[in-house]
Amino acid sequence: MAKQSLKQGEKVLFGIAIIFLVAAVIGYAILESVRHHAEKPLFASKTHFDMSDEGLRGSEIFRGERCTSCHRALRNGTNMGLSLDGIGSKRSKEWLEQFLHDPENTYGAATLDHGYAPKEAAYVANLSDEKIRLIAAFISELKAERGSSSAPEPPKGPSPFIDSMVGAFAPDSWHDRFQDIREKDANTGVSDVPSNDMRKKP
Ligand code: HEC
Repeated sequence: MAKQSLKQGEKVLFGIAIIFLVAAVIGYAILESVRHHAEKPLFASKTHFDMSDEGLRGSEIFRGERCTSCHRALRNGTNMGLSLDGIGSKRSKEWLEQFLHDPENTYGAATLDHGYAPKEAAYVANLSDEKIRLIAAFISELKAERGSSSAPEPPKGPSPFIDSMVGAFAPDSWHDRFQDIREKDANTGVSDVPSNDMRKKP
């Protein structure tokens, strides 16, 4: 069987594909080399896991008491429930301790898994005071700066990206019914803004 040679158009297409591939490989090599030699990290990590001694002990209890079967922390665990990464920038240690002891009253609303038996995480409230204290210390140290993917708040200052997304996807009427949390600037870093970024206007 005679070998068919490529048609002109096919040659051009293959040529373009190869150029793209080579450009991608070169680009990747340059990015990696810049990243290795840069003095400051190119992509600053905004989610912090700096643990105290208590926090470290709490993290062991956290894993031992099966919290990771429903939660994510230190980027480990499951995505089935709430991710706790960044929660330390949203809730205080006292709030967390109180929630673990008495979930429903702390939420002031019905809960799904924490709370009284037969809810699945009812056992959490029955852990010893010491264990709860250490777990609360641990999760209160899971910090996320504003603007990180696990932070409850967007980055400080104007963001053309967020403006364009809101402009493209939110109906014009959203401003009548919801408050833009970017207008309320939290300078403390700790805030009581709920994790779903839009709040009903009072
Ligand atoms: C069976 C699943 C399950 C297990 C196990 C579980 N949780 Fe939860 N957790 C949830 C759910 C669901 C919520 C949301 C509140 C609710 O509806 O119960 C929650 C909420 C929380 C919150 C509050 C988060 C917030 O800001 O609202 C904390 C803190 C928390 N869990 C910590 C823990 C710890 C610590 C453990 C282990 C000792 C644990 N959870 C075990 C399912 C679970």
